[in-house]
Amino acid sequence: MKSYCQRDSFLIFGAPAIEDAEIAEVVSVIRSGWIGTGPRVAAFERDFQSYKGAAHAVAVNSATAALHLSFIAAGLKKGDEVITTANTFCATVNAIIHAGATPVLVDIDPITCNIDVSRIEEAITERTRAICPVHYAGLPCEMDEIEKLARKYGLQIIEDCAHAIETRYQGREAGTIGDFGCFSFYVTKNVVTAEGGMITTKQEGLADRLKILALHGMTKDAWKRFGDAGYKHYKVVDAGFKYNMTDIQAALGIHQLARVEKNWVRRREIWDRYSARLKSLPLGLPAAPQEGDRHAYHLFPIRVNPAKAGIERDDFLNEMTARKIGVGVHYLSIPEHPFYQDEFGWTPDAFPEAKQFGRETVSLPLSANLTDRDVDDVILAIEDCLGQ
Ligand SMILES: Cc1ncc(COP(=O)(O)O)c(C=O)c1O
Repeated sequence: MKSYCQRDSFLIFGAPAIEDAEIAEVVSVIRSGWIGTGPRVAAFERDFQSYKGAAHAVAVNSATAALHLSFIAAGLKKGDEVITTANTFCATVNAIIHAGATPVLVDIDPITCNIDVSRIEEAITERTRAICPVHYAGLPCEMDEIEKLARKYGLQIIEDCAHAIETRYQGREAGTIGDFGCFSFYVTKNVVTAEGGMITTKQEGLADRLKILALHGMTKDAWKRFGDAGYKHYKVVDAGFKYNMTDIQAALGIHQLARVEKNWVRRREIWDRYSARLKSLPLGLPAAPQEGDRHAYHLFPIRVNPAKAGIERDDFLNEMTARKIGVGVHYLSIPEHPFYQDEFGWTPDAFPEAKQFGRETVSLPLSANLTDRDVDDVILAIEDCLGQ
């Protein structure tokens, strides 16, 4: 019998790897006298566009805003349908609703936990206008199949890349394959700006429209109106939103993005360590990327099936927390939530794979700043919870 030794401090799930460079840049923005949308946001957009090899990148204040604006710029109207996955964060579905359209869910592939592409076609109706694949955990969706369907039925593709900054599908950058790519820089993401998001798009006209929509519908570059070139009048040309990113957020993002590959390498090491050490335990482990694909290693979701693991998932969450290990759940399937049940009549049973996954999944800590010791603490805590 092994004796378990608990760690001293709580291991925060998704703690960001913040370094001195971004702290200094944030302080310098605060001291500069201009903390709103300005030159640092423009620089972050250029850096992100170049990192992704995208034609255009537009910064906003969350991926939720990115999705909402993309659905609007895609021209969705009331009655239009958008197909997405039952295994996602509520923001994906809410953004479709806020754009005035109707979300249509498709169940997941139980191995990849991404949208089951073999079931998309049966969900397409004459009202379908778009597909919103979510590259869950950072593993790319089968974009060839999704593009084939989009071409066949004349649909737009809005990629939810909240987990997929570093993701590539068969050598193509996630977020540049569809018409729009929506990224998140939320506190637990692979690049953080506290809150923040980015939209990549192929068309200059759409990028201009997104910029206008993100700042009240005011003409492009309205943020320059208080600059040293003198006051600039703006015109309101659309009923826009207050979705702009600030220079404080961009100051974080510029330096975070500069280290994105270094952090990816570290998270891959952690991923490999978990994979090697957990494979002999009675748990389900996340799918590895296919040949030619690149995983972003954003989440490491294990499956705790009580019949195999000998413990209920929610008890496992509590036991891990009691052992000072922060854990997450990504995600209880969308039809588990009362709002969607009431609004759309969805039931978990109609999406059995997403239901099962959502009731078994537990996300382990996967930040680049975890030490090997931290990772070993997680593994030891899991072994102890399972009585191994
Ligand atoms: C799949 C997915 N889509 C959208 C979002 C929304 O991102 P944000 O918090 O930046 O609005 C998240 C955030 O967790 C997410 O995980």
